[in-house]
Amino acid sequence: MRQCYASSHKKFLFRLELPVSRAVSCGRRVALGCGVQAKENRAQQHKSRRLMRRKLVSSKTGLKAMLGSAMVVLSACAMTGAALAQDAEASAERTIFDGVFTQEQADRGAGVFSQNCAVCHGNAARGGSDAPGLVGHTLNNKYADQPLQTYFHIMQTTMPLGRGNSLPPQTYADIMAHILSLHGAPAGEEELPFDEEGLSAIQIVRAPQ
Ligand code: HEC
Repeated sequence: MRQCYASSHKKFLFRLELPVSRAVSCGRRVALGCGVQAKENRAQQHKSRRLMRRKLVSSKTGLKAMLGSAMVVLSACAMTGAALAQDAEASAERTIFDGVFTQEQADRGAGVFSQNCAVCHGNAARGGSDAPGLVGHTLNNKYADQPLQTYFHIMQTTMPLGRGNSLPPQTYADIMAHILSLHGAPAGEEELPFDEEGLSAIQIVRAPQ
């Protein structure tokens, strides 16, 4: 039943000179098509396929229904295509090595870092006896494969130690730009954002060898 409908549907598409190969490759087409057929009169299914086709084509309403279902099918395919494109985009998200901050921003962050953070974490953010390193091993291992948002959130809500959220969000983004720069990530054209969505779209990955 599924196959019968699919093959006759294919012929409709041929007749309408629609891109059959694209429609055929779309999984949803068959599912939708069978749904439409399920509504058809059972008795009609027993008539020969040839008779049924002639009847459909000759009746105006039949042709309309055909066109209508072809449109639904095609738009469903277009939607599937859009969803696939979106998936591809999501998996091709940026990493911290894709120039996610500007040099100017990192320079701003360097000033704040030396005043508020270096006393514990060291000027190069390599850590000391009182505080962990923020670059190198920490990013390459502890936070590898996590969104930058995770690391940013910890920094913003807990640092400087005992005074989380005491600096403006923009300043935390500037400090993060400086930390990434110390880690060896290159500067780019756009500033590092401080909103959750923007930071979630940037992935921490191991430094390239
Ligand atoms: C008084 C010392 C001190 C100061 C000042 C300080 N930190 Fe920290 N920081 C620590 C300690 C201690 C930890 C470890 C806390 C823990 O593991 O619970 C830490 C942890 C962190 C972490 C998480 C590291 C990890 O491995 O998860 C980040 C990021 C960080 N600090 C950034 C900053 C930044 C940015 C500043 C300045 C705005 C700052 N810290 C100021 C002592 C300090």
